[in-house]
Amino acid sequence: MEPWQRLPPLLLLYPLLLLPWSSSSTVCILDEEGDNCFCNFSAPEPQWNDIAMCISAVEVEILGGSHNLDVFLQKGGVANPGKAEDVLRVLRLRRLKLREAQVPAPLLNHLLRALTYTRIKELTLEDLVISHPPLQPPSPSDSNVGLTALKLNRVSLVGESNLLAALGPWLKPSLKALNLTGLGLSSVPCPDLGTFKELNSLDLSDNPEIGESGLTGAFCLKEFQALRDLALRNTSLESLGEVCQGLEVTGTNVQHLDISYNELRDTPQTQCTWPPTLISLNLSHSKLKCVPKSLPEKLQQLDLSYNLLMKQPMLPQVNDLILRGNPFADSVTLARLQGEPVPKDCEVPSRGTRSVGTPLALQVSGTAALAMLRGVRVFP
Ligand SMILES: *[C@@H]1O[C@H](CO)[C@@H](O)[C@H](O)[C@H]1NC(C)=O
Ligand SMILES: *[C@@H]1O[C@H](CO)[C@@H](O)[C@H](O)[C@H]1NC(C)=O
Ligand SMILES: *[C@@H]1O[C@H](CO)[C@@H](O)[C@H](O)[C@H]1NC(C)=O
Ligand SMILES: *[C@@H]1O[C@H](CO)[C@@H](O)[C@H](O)[C@H]1NC(C)=O
Repeated sequence: MEPWQRLPPLLLLYPLLLLPWSSSSTVCILDEEGDNCFCNFSAPEPQWNDIAMCISAVEVEILGGSHNLDVFLQKGGVANPGKAEDVLRVLRLRRLKLREAQVPAPLLNHLLRALTYTRIKELTLEDLVISHPPLQPPSPSDSNVGLTALKLNRVSLVGESNLLAALGPWLKPSLKALNLTGLGLSSVPCPDLGTFKELNSLDLSDNPEIGESGLTGAFCLKEFQALRDLALRNTSLESLGEVCQGLEVTGTNVQHLDISYNELRDTPQTQCTWPPTLISLNLSHSKLKCVPKSLPEKLQQLDLSYNLLMKQPMLPQVNDLILRGNPFADSVTLARLQGEPVPKDCEVPSRGTRSVGTPLALQVSGTAALAMLRGVRVFP
């Protein structure tokens, strides 16, 4: 009998099991319930076959310690996962996370093929370099991987810029959540997203080349009727008005928009209607000196934390207003920023035409009272 027939193979790790077996592991930790398994292969001479400990786990995380997994290709090639089909089918595995490794494309192909036999739902690849391209599409005899969530964070495919195009054909169109973060994208990758019509969450954060221009042409957003969550953190967005316009043009129905970690300016002159479905907006860490005037009509949640607000804004129409980390709440920072000019726009934070804003005087006296309590001068 071949070793792979005796020992239940696990995924990528399947070829690893051809290696000698060790009985106890310090590399892999399985929790008491046997549900979560974490392996850290950062040691210089990793004991790869310790992965066998994770065979029964529901959630497996593998830290590759930046090792080059080419070794598995050199060990007389990779066995066909189809031979282990029955074993793969009974795995409880639902979530797999693979981090920090150099993975040759043929090995990733074997992993994907192995996963087609499993009931995995969520795959996360993070800090990987995929070498030895190309990544092959599935062959006609392969089925698809039934993922509901795919998360790619800082993954590069050597010699090819389009990772999603290479992975897409392996996936079922029923994918619900997609994270494409830190991939150096310069636009919403509409052509490669096309098949995933049921997406309800799309995260394109940490792609600083996107900017407003990468958003404006994203007409595919309209096709995702189920898309509720859109995240564009740290994507070099600069003008709230242009973001609004970009979304208006795409006709999207998003409910939650996260554009935190962008240096945003309010551009009230821009005429634009936010998607009428938008109820939650995250403007945290955006260097805003005042509350933008052009806010969505039906906003229920607004995160303005870690901005440069000098006064406590009054937005009674927003149920959940998050303001921590702003200078007005911190007397030391407030005092330091006193000398800086406050933009004119800041004077009346409101919601434009439909303003229900608090009268300025009330706000000013509120802020002054607050500052006096803390012994700080409000006005220079
Ligand atoms: C992984 O192991 C290395 C030592 O081999 C250690 O330095 C590192 O902190 C570990 N990482 C995690 C996430 O446990
Ligand atoms: C994926 O995106 C969602 C939505 O933005 C976010 O909540 C989640 O933390 C992201 N996951 C990872 C692994 O980055
Ligand atoms: C923004 O994204 C770039 C590229 O992915 C990354 O290097 C940087 O650390 C990110 N910045 C923040 C504040 O997360
Ligand atoms: C808004 O974004 C920040 C930074 O990305 C995050 O820490 C915070 O949890 C988000 N707020 C909400 C309400 O999700």
